[in-house]
Amino acid sequence: MYKIAVLAGDGIGREIVPEAVSTLQLVAQKFNYSFEFQEALVSEDAYEKLGHPLPAETLKICQEANAVLLGAVGSPKMDTLPAELRPERAALLPLRKELGLFANLRPIRVYDSLITASTLKTEVIKDVDIAVFRELTGGLYFGAKKREVLESGGEQAIDTLVYNTEEIIRIARLAFEAARGRRKRLTSVDKANVLESSRLWRETVTALSKEYPDVELTHMYVDNCAMQLVRWPAQFDVIVTENMFGDILTDQASMLTGSLGMLPSASIGGKVALYEPAHGSAPDIAGQNLANPLATILSIALMLRFSFKYNEGAKIIEKAVYKVLKEGYRTADIMSEGLNKVGTTQMGELVRQTIQKL
Ligand code: IPM
Ligand code: MG
Repeated sequence: MYKIAVLAGDGIGREIVPEAVSTLQLVAQKFNYSFEFQEALVSEDAYEKLGHPLPAETLKICQEANAVLLGAVGSPKMDTLPAELRPERAALLPLRKELGLFANLRPIRVYDSLITASTLKTEVIKDVDIAVFRELTGGLYFGAKKREVLESGGEQAIDTLVYNTEEIIRIARLAFEAARGRRKRLTSVDKANVLESSRLWRETVTALSKEYPDVELTHMYVDNCAMQLVRWPAQFDVIVTENMFGDILTDQASMLTGSLGMLPSASIGGKVALYEPAHGSAPDIAGQNLANPLATILSIALMLRFSFKYNEGAKIIEKAVYKVLKEGYRTADIMSEGLNKVGTTQMGELVRQTIQKL
């Protein structure tokens, strides 16, 4: 029996998470897996009912679970709160840190049937299959921050970008290992022509590469990588990069797959891993049955594979998603002319019906 903490969070998180949970329940039934779900409050609901975006009891539920499923955090109602109480800084980042989730894996895969949903040309995105390892508990997100009033007038704001050798080695090692199981190519992305932290990053990754002679390591500046991702994305196998660069590059890379609504993620490195779609809470479409639940549903496939080694269950979910797309069902974000437009709940239901038949 595995315990799964379920944190729906804000906005569309409340619509997509139930679809993923129902899908997981169905897969569990089919393969005799045994899960116990425990819901916990985070962000707006948590702040309103318990006084903090990440209450101690939510953190405890996550720490005692075998895996965490998270929807999304971010809400217009909380935008006016002081920075220390905003859910991004008060809930999501501390949750990642407390659980020791130093690596965020974002697999960028292009589904044949979605090739025309991308804003990029078919010949550019065909054959894309990239695994991005984003460092998740260091860098600018977690370095010291400060605001100072200047005597000369105005203010000064400071964010600090810090990385140490050990932090770089542990994420790079995961990326090297992943490359070893794939096409054996690793691109390490930095800004070593300008940033000292990037110089340490590059030196450390280069030193570690001696342990992986079978993996071909390339270093690439982040600005060049942004360009190469839209010029010739098929050149990439595994990418490893620091927190902020990874945040930006993965939103960009998600468009290769057609929509940010297709991109799952696994945050790993600690005892308990956390699975969440790479997209946000999308308040503009929340509550309207419009959101694409597939990134969250694909995130539970990652959960089955990484946390529980239930490969059969992971595969059946991915196969079902593939099939539903092939049959022409689309949520609004990936819709093309002449296909069948469906809402959040219908898309979830279609995936489950397909799983039942597989
Ligand atoms: C992500 C998100 C978060 C991040 C935000 C919501 C703080 O954009 O998971 O990519 O920047 O890490
Ligand atoms: Mg992001």
